[in-house]
Amino acid sequence: MIETQGVAKRYPHGVTALRGVDIEVSKGEFVFVTGPSGAGKTTLLRLLLRQELPDEGHIRIGGWDVGALPRSRVPELRRILGVVFQDFKLIRRKSALENVAYVLNVAGLPPAEQRRRAYEALRGVGLQHRLSTLPDALSGGEQQRVAIARALVSEPEILLADEPTGNLDPDLSVEIMRLFREINARGTTVVVATHDRDMIRRMQRRAIVLERGRVVTGGRPS
Ligand SMILES: Nc1ncnc2c1ncn2[C@@H]1O[C@H](COP(=O)(O)OP(=O)(O)OP(=O)(O)O)[C@@H](O)[C@H]1O
Ligand SMILES: [Mg+2]
Repeated sequence: MIETQGVAKRYPHGVTALRGVDIEVSKGEFVFVTGPSGAGKTTLLRLLLRQELPDEGHIRIGGWDVGALPRSRVPELRRILGVVFQDFKLIRRKSALENVAYVLNVAGLPPAEQRRRAYEALRGVGLQHRLSTLPDALSGGEQQRVAIARALVSEPEILLADEPTGNLDPDLSVEIMRLFREINARGTTVVVATHDRDMIRRMQRRAIVLERGRVVTGGRPS
């Protein structure tokens, strides 16, 4: 499903964020990407999303050659990817339902169908009672669940999350991870970047460990 070979990414001023990165994630897997701050976790996710291009190596996702994908075709790649960020990135003047439905608006679905699917996605994360609430009136955990519903409403094959529990207290983090596990159980491939070792230990899933831009363990399924 996801494969990188010899991936390197350098930023200006001589920072090598990634080098020689070989990873493989099978369809239906749930994996963590971990390592200390600055190890390259976010950079790796940005490359998978084609927010950045690698300086060296190959990246393949579900048949796409991401490293060679022209900008014009990025929307086609994004259709199979759902993304969740640490800071939620919700639109403040839109309700929970509107934040989720908006994604489908861009995809050109009729409004009634958008609302129906957005409702289903919010129900899936236990927020059917918060449909018309604005983000500022939601708790951190609720905002993150809206963001997860938004990532899932278009039924992506892969869910990529960067520190999705970084702004949440431990109880809410456990709840979000339980949700990710359910999503994974329904067939979605899940990749979560986190530096939370306790969480990885509890979840007992493979961890791809990065240090200073290199994979130290867990690059491939065992
Ligand atoms: N846009 C950028 N320009 C220059 N250097 C960058 C840029 N983004 C990241 N870096 C550098 O690349 C390296 C890897 O950063 P990255 O954000 O991928 O780390 P991370 O593992 O996600 O860290 P954290 O746990 O703090 O989120 C760091 O040395 C960082 O300073
Ligand atoms: Mg990061």
